[in-house]
Amino acid sequence: MSELETLEQEFLSAIDTATDLPALEQVRVSALGKKGKISGLMSGLGKLPPEERKSFGQSVNALKQSVASAIEDKKSGLERDALNARLETEREDVTLPLRPAPQNEGRIHPISQVWEEITEIFADLGFAMAEGPHIETDENNFTKLNIPAEHPARQEHDTFYFNEKQDGSRRVLRTHTSPVQIRTMESQEPPIRVIAPGRVYRCDSDQTHTPMFHQVEGLLIDTETHMGHLKWTLEEFCKAFFEVDDVVMRFRASHFPFTEPSAEVDIGYSKKGNELLIGGDDNWLEILGCGMVHPNVLTNVGIDPHKYQGFAFGIGIDRLAMLKYGMPDLRAFFAGDMRWLKHYGFSVLNVPTIAGGL
Ligand code: DAH
Repeated sequence: MSELETLEQEFLSAIDTATDLPALEQVRVSALGKKGKISGLMSGLGKLPPEERKSFGQSVNALKQSVASAIEDKKSGLERDALNARLETEREDVTLPLRPAPQNEGRIHPISQVWEEITEIFADLGFAMAEGPHIETDENNFTKLNIPAEHPARQEHDTFYFNEKQDGSRRVLRTHTSPVQIRTMESQEPPIRVIAPGRVYRCDSDQTHTPMFHQVEGLLIDTETHMGHLKWTLEEFCKAFFEVDDVVMRFRASHFPFTEPSAEVDIGYSKKGNELLIGGDDNWLEILGCGMVHPNVLTNVGIDPHKYQGFAFGIGIDRLAMLKYGMPDLRAFFAGDMRWLKHYGFSVLNVPTIAGGL
């Protein structure tokens, strides 16, 4: 056996017996690394007499290739084995019942669930998420939304005011999510398509009102937007949200200072005992206000109303939750009663997605 053949046998058997990737790497370095044996032979070629150089060079090259390809084969084999071993040890029997544990006892609050459902649906319709602070300036909450200082709409909002600052300015707990419209239009160029879910505050409390509640604002600004787009968007949303094809919706002409024209939307429902059932026209629950963004609002945020228009809407998240999940009393949402939460809450594993169902 020639010297090269012996060497090849040595390397091939070392490759064959390597049991893991580090051992294989050692063989590679000893053969093909900078100071490896085969590399040594290659660099020694120059010292050979020219007549031997060519044929010896060819043999060394063949050796190099045979060793390199044996290493590659072994490497993919070892990697495959490692993956299989891992898959074997990480095997889970998903049919096993859940063990009693805090994460199985805990519940997702219906508001959080509905919030997620709403953002999923609007994300699917191409709306991005926007945010704003709960403590707002008077301008963002009112003035820039076309509600000037003495406007009667201010009284309707039952606002929680903070003490006046030295410069005479006053902050408020935002009474609606509409100031996020202002923040978004001041920081982004049209076209705009956002929703902004969040908490809002009003000094009011009875069976259908709590001092803190939830809204989701929607805003779309573009060059050719009309009421038809608004209506389609809201209808698509309601069908997806209530998971039925025949939601009964009623668009009523209304008035909001920041939209013109404006509408309010009611959803038809019936009562079975103490439960609310979606559909029919026995009873109506108002779930949202909407309209075409008022040109004054666009002007207030520096958008040219001759070039752009858009629509906006504000949906009551809590009301949607009441309707969809048949919960009659809004106050129970915030009472923190574990028995209520166990009954109406959602499993942590039950994440709403468009694909998997809401
Ligand atoms: N901000 C209004 C409220 O809280 C709801 C609303 C009405 C929002 C019309 C809008 C809209 O964006 O266009 O009562």
